[in-house]
Amino acid sequence: MSLNPELAKLLNAQINHEMAASYSYLAMAAWFEQTPYSGFANWMYQQSAEETVHALKFYQFLVSRDAAVVLTPLAMPQAEFTSPLDVFATSLRQEETVTQQINDLYDVAERVRDHASKNLLLWFLNEQIEEEKSVRDIMDRLTLAGDDPASLLVLDREAGARKETKESAKN
Ligand SMILES: [Fe+2]
Ligand SMILES: [Fe+2]
Repeated sequence: MSLNPELAKLLNAQINHEMAASYSYLAMAAWFEQTPYSGFANWMYQQSAEETVHALKFYQFLVSRDAAVVLTPLAMPQAEFTSPLDVFATSLRQEETVTQQINDLYDVAERVRDHASKNLLLWFLNEQIEEEKSVRDIMDRLTLAGDDPASLLVLDREAGARKETKESAKN
């Protein structure tokens, strides 16, 4: 079944959104690298890599469906932040936007009755729930830690333990 052109266009746009998220997380990692929080820098770096995997999932899906892949420019990401909490709050807003984009994509896939696309997008919707939750959890604990350096360093160490994702673009 060939891909509906409107859906193909939006799936291509989502490659750009995921790469923009990856780029933005890399800017957040770079910001943390200039602070004592090397653990948060690691967390953001791993998150950036995961967003690239998301972009590649859409890429692979388009290729599998014999649709053209069209890559478009990325905007310059936000690079200045006021605190670790500010970085994670920015991340949450970004994830909420992506969740909305995937929801909208799902509506289109449903309208054109492309069930295979719906299946791919359902995976992403579940992933968005997890990502929003993990960012909100860190924000809650950063709020609790406030300005206490010892508590902040505990959170930073935990974030530093985040490992590289094993997820592949092809599954
Ligand atoms: Fe993503
Ligand atoms: Fe994400």
